[in-house]
Amino acid sequence: MTSPVKAYRAAILHSIDDPAVVGVEQSYEYFEDGLLVINNGLVAKVGHAADLLPTLKGVEITEYRDALITPGFIDTHIHYPQTGMIASYGEQLLDWLNTYTFPTEQQFADKAHAAEVAGIFLKELLRNGTTTALVFGSVHKQSVDAFFEAAEALNLRMIAGKVLMDRNAPDYLTDTPESGYADSKELIERWHGKGRLHYAVTPRFAPTSTPEQLTLAGKLLGEYPHLYMHTHLSENRKEIEWVKALFPERKSYLDVYDHYKLIGARSVFAHGVHLCDGECKRLAETGSAVAFCPTSNLFLGSGLFDLNKLEEHGVRVGLGTDVGAGTSFSQLQSLNEAYKVMQLQGKKLDPFKSLYLATLGGANALYLDDKLGNFLPGKDADFVVLDYNATPLISYRMQQAKTLEERLFALTMLGDDRAIKQTFAAGQSVHCRD
Ligand code: GUN
Ligand code: ZN
Repeated sequence: MTSPVKAYRAAILHSIDDPAVVGVEQSYEYFEDGLLVINNGLVAKVGHAADLLPTLKGVEITEYRDALITPGFIDTHIHYPQTGMIASYGEQLLDWLNTYTFPTEQQFADKAHAAEVAGIFLKELLRNGTTTALVFGSVHKQSVDAFFEAAEALNLRMIAGKVLMDRNAPDYLTDTPESGYADSKELIERWHGKGRLHYAVTPRFAPTSTPEQLTLAGKLLGEYPHLYMHTHLSENRKEIEWVKALFPERKSYLDVYDHYKLIGARSVFAHGVHLCDGECKRLAETGSAVAFCPTSNLFLGSGLFDLNKLEEHGVRVGLGTDVGAGTSFSQLQSLNEAYKVMQLQGKKLDPFKSLYLATLGGANALYLDDKLGNFLPGKDADFVVLDYNATPLISYRMQQAKTLEERLFALTMLGDDRAIKQTFAAGQSVHCRD
């Protein structure tokens, strides 16, 4: 019988805490010649190769040269049905939804179509080193079945849910409070907690759900343990005005969700570009999380996310691509744009903070930091091998780099899917570039 123990030798880097809390130097561990030891799909040990090799008699060791192993990336907000409409021209949020998104999502009534796109989507995530994502389906329950079936076959840790949307959308794409509730319940019973899969109750955003539907969404959250709640919040100025007009009795956009019992641990709000202090405070005290989606915020002209403000309030923040409003599946590219979003506000984004956002910070936002985000023993063996020679330019830039910080920063600026040499989920190779 082959041993369930395997080891991977390369430079290894992982976050161990938030740089904003412990300072940059205390936030990571780095092993220049490191060894990651995996047993039965879980991390057994990480450390210096020189220390660990003598303890590993007879274990198969895979060695990578000019490579960096990090934990798999975590995408805290993405829409799988929007894969085929990524990079659609010229609109801001509300017109973009009507022009491109709704017609595209209509196609997911067809399970075969949904299965095809789910396969393309997951492959693209893995090609980009993303091993866990919080994913919007479409309004059709079969879209979520197709997604979970594909994720289960690859033994991925994934979170997804059926969109709830019973107004302000085309008839072909709406459910009702009762059907949305019943379909979600059926999906929760079928998928939530199965293997590495989790369910997210997914009202699209406040304008597309009636008070009755939001009430039933809140009811669902109370009926099962550890469900996620996944929606959009304060992304675009016109959207915020619309929410005010639809819910005049609520004191803020977040207060709509609060009123319907949709906020708390495992509630993840995409965007939060235009939040007031009161909303930040409430997000922090309820343990809710916000997904920072830089490529989307720039692409749709939504605005500049104030990471420091949310951080100062103690809000959990993860990194999202928000494909198809986001323009890349790559978290390296998201970090590239995140850096520029900060620069435009006269602020900085340290490369180790970037690493944290894409890995342990995402795990923390999703309350999965006991399972994901770094290489502490017992966590899922979800990891990526980054190639320092991915392109001629990256290779040349790396030769000039004098420090780890410089290499990491250049990788986040120049890297994309080409920099992902291999991706592992639960210890199994799920993408091999070459
Ligand atoms: N708000 C409501 N629906 C959507 C969506 O599909 N994408 C984005 N970016 N924002 C939304
Ligand atoms: Zn979105």
